Amino acid sequence: MEFPVYLWYIGGGMKIAVVGTGYVGLVTGVVLAELGNDVICVDNDPGKVARLSQGIPTIYEPGIDEMLKRGIAEGHLVFSHDAAEATRQSEIVFIAVGTPPGEDGSPDLTAVKAVANAIAPAIDKYTVVVNKSTVPVGSGDLVESIIRSHHIAEHLFDVVSNPEFLREGSAIFDTLNPDRIVIGAKRKEAAHRLVELYAPLERPMHITDLNSAELIKYASNSFLAMKISFINAISRLCETCGANVGDVAKGIGSDARIGSQFLQAGLGWGGSCFPKDVQGLVATADRLGYDFRLLKETIEINDTQTLHFLNRLDKRLGGFADKRIALLGLAFKPNTDDIRDAKSLIIIEEILRRGGTIQAYDPIAAENVRALYPQIQYVDTLYDVGKDADAAILVTEWNEFKQLDFSRLGAPMRQRILFDGRRIYRREAIERAGFEYATIGA
Ligand code: UGA
Repeated sequence: MEFPVYLWYIGGGMKIAVVGTGYVGLVTGVVLAELGNDVICVDNDPGKVARLSQGIPTIYEPGIDEMLKRGIAEGHLVFSHDAAEATRQSEIVFIAVGTPPGEDGSPDLTAVKAVANAIAPAIDKYTVVVNKSTVPVGSGDLVESIIRSHHIAEHLFDVVSNPEFLREGSAIFDTLNPDRIVIGAKRKEAAHRLVELYAPLERPMHITDLNSAELIKYASNSFLAMKISFINAISRLCETCGANVGDVAKGIGSDARIGSQFLQAGLGWGGSCFPKDVQGLVATADRLGYDFRLLKETIEINDTQTLHFLNRLDKRLGGFADKRIALLGLAFKPNTDDIRDAKSLIIIEEILRRGGTIQAYDPIAAENVRALYPQIQYVDTLYDVGKDADAAILVTEWNEFKQLDFSRLGAPMRQRILFDGRRIYRREAIERAGFEYATIGA
C-alpha cells in the first residue's frame, strides 16, 4: 500500500536512538538529526564514541563532516555507549549493526541479537524497534521473540523492518533522496511512526509485511549484482566476436524496461554489500529449499571476471615474473576508502603470486591496502606510479584518473601498456600518446 505522506506529517522532531555507528548507522543518525530529530547514536567502541562526540567522522563519506558537526552544534546529535539509556530516552530505536557473512555464507546475527538483548529491558513505554541492518527473512520475528523473552508486554513495542539502500560515496545524498522507503511491519500503527519520521523527505513509501521488507533488500542488491554480471558475461562475448560492450550496454539500456544503470562492464562488483548479500540470499534460498542457480552463476561470473582480464595482460607480457605493474586505484569503487572485496586485492595477490612486483596509487585507500600488503610500493603522487612499470592497470575509476595526461603517465614507464579495467578512456586519445590500450569487452 502507498501512503500520501502529507497525511502523516505533523511536524516536530522525534526522539531517536541509532545503535551501531558503522556506515549505515552513522549516516542514518546524522541525517535524522539534520531533519530536526533528537538523535542518540550508540556504539560499544568507546574510541569511536569519543571521536564522533568531537565531530570527527569515523568513515570517509562526502558531506558527512559538516553535517556531523552541525548536528552536534545544534544539540540534535549526541553519542553514547549506553544502548539501554538511549532506548529509555527514545520512541524509535534503530538497530544498525554489522551482519558479516558466517561460515556458510548466511549473515551472522550475533550483533543484532546482542542489541535486542541490550535494549529490551529498557523498554518501559511504547517503542518502535527498527531493523535497519541487512538481515535475512525472519530476523524481525527473531528480534521480537528476543524482546518478548525479557517479559516486555506486547503492547509496549513493535518491530519494524526498514532496509537501507544508500551507496557508499553518495550515502548522504541517497539517504536524503531515496528512490523509495520500504517499511515492513505487522501493525499499521508501527509503520505509521516511520511514515511520520520520513515524511519530510517527501519520497515514495512502500508499506508491507516484515518478511517482504527483508526480502526486498536482498532481492534489490542481488538483482543489481546480476545486472552487472550479465553485462560482464556479454563483455566476454564481445571480446571474442569483435563487438563493443559499451555500445551493447547503451543499446539495451535505453529500453526503459531494462534501464541504463548498473550496466557498466568492468572488473566486477565488490564492496561490503553485494558479495555478502548475494551470498546471503543464496544461503536463505538453500535454507528454504530452493536452489538459486541464477545467483550462483552471478557469483561465478563475478569471481572469474578480474582473473580473466588479468590473464589477458599476463599473456601480453609473457608472464608477470620480474615485471613491474602500476595500479591506478585500490578502493572497491571511487569516493570511498573501503577496500572490502575490492578487485585490487585479487589483482595484487595474483600478480605477486606470479612473480611480479607492484606499485600503486590511490587518493585515499592506499593506507588500508598497505596494512594487508606492506610489501608493495605505494606512491603519493599519481604520475609517480608509472616509474619503470611494464604496464599499468586502471582498477578504480576515480575522477582524477579521467583526465589523465597520458604522456606524463607514460614518460617514466618501461613499456606504455594500459589495461583499463573500468572502461573509462577513449582508445584514440591513449593511442595518440603512444600507449597500447586494452579494455574489458572490446
Ligand atoms: C550497494 C547498493 O547500490 C546500495 O543500494 C545498497 O544500499 C548498498 O549496496 C548496501 O547494501 O549497503 P555500494 O556497495 O555502496 O551500494 O556500491 P555500488 O555503487 O552499488 O557498487 C557496488 C559494486 O558494483 C562496485 O564494486 C562497483 O564498482 C560495481 N559496479 C557498479 C559495476 O561494476 N558496474 C556498474 O554498472 C555499477
